[in-house]
Amino acid sequence: MAQCDIVLNRNISDPERNLDLRLVLEMCNAGAIAAPIRCGTARPHFGINSTLTTDDLPIDIMSFANKIIAVTGGASGIGRATTETLVSEGATVYVADLNETAGKELESQYPKKVVFQKTDVSSEEQVKAFFEKVKEAGTLYGAVNAAGINMPGQLLHETTTEFYRKTISVNLDGTYFSLREEVRILMEQGKGGSVVNVSSGSGLIGRPKATAYCSSKHALAGLTKAAALEYAEKGIRINAVCPGNANFLHF
Ligand SMILES: NC(=O)c1ccc[n+]([C@@H]2O[C@H](COP(=O)([O-])OP(=O)(O)OC[C@H]3O[C@@H](n4cnc5c(N)ncnc54)[C@H](O)[C@@H]3O)[C@@H](O)[C@H]2O)c1
Repeated sequence: MAQCDIVLNRNISDPERNLDLRLVLEMCNAGAIAAPIRCGTARPHFGINSTLTTDDLPIDIMSFANKIIAVTGGASGIGRATTETLVSEGATVYVADLNETAGKELESQYPKKVVFQKTDVSSEEQVKAFFEKVKEAGTLYGAVNAAGINMPGQLLHETTTEFYRKTISVNLDGTYFSLREEVRILMEQGKGGSVVNVSSGSGLIGRPKATAYCSSKHALAGLTKAAALEYAEKGIRINAVCPGNANFLHF
């Protein structure tokens, strides 16, 4: 990973809630540059261009053993890598993804550690049904909202309304619906928690032939910042990561 800007809203080294911290560390270990963006009263621990390694932290705060974590878009790419990392560290991961074949494969690869449910995150009803299942499983520790699409680029005047709406419905509506259910569960549990939205470098800067995608990802910054401020006092941290090209198949 050549470059990665990371939006941080709260003290990410809170040892009780390490999901966002781990994501940052994983990305920094892969060569990313941590570039925290301050939000409200936020005090990110890592300065611009800081270089972090997992050695910077005591090992006991890195454990995901027996934690339940929800990952949208967990059947491939960044979501899958996140799922597999979490499982390798002892978590049970609930995966919501449209790709049933890949999701079921993942589930059979990690019996009882990955639970897959076919879900279209742009459908409010399907997102609710997925999180009903997550809720029944036990205490939700955190979530990663990685489901997203980036369709082949077109200049603005060439785009169709359908193209625009599809991009917004998955990348923005899907993250909004997922985050809202996650926060509802975390609020009900009353134990705090950590949610990471997967945005993009295109959520920070403009790119040609990507107006719909850039719009959807810039909107995630607003969603993340506003929600982070709403729930900070409840110990629910909401952050976004903004990867550059992560060399997965579709980008
Ligand atoms: N790969 C990159 O270089 C890169 C860069 C910046 C940001 N991102 C972001 O990272 C996230 C993951 O991207 P990726 O590269 O891993 O892509 P990917 O296509 O490999 O994975 C995305 C996953 O989301 C799922 N998905 C798509 N539409 C869905 C829907 N409506 N409901 C539920 N699941 C759906 C897909 O089935 C897939 O499993 C996206 O949000 C993307 O915008 C990726």
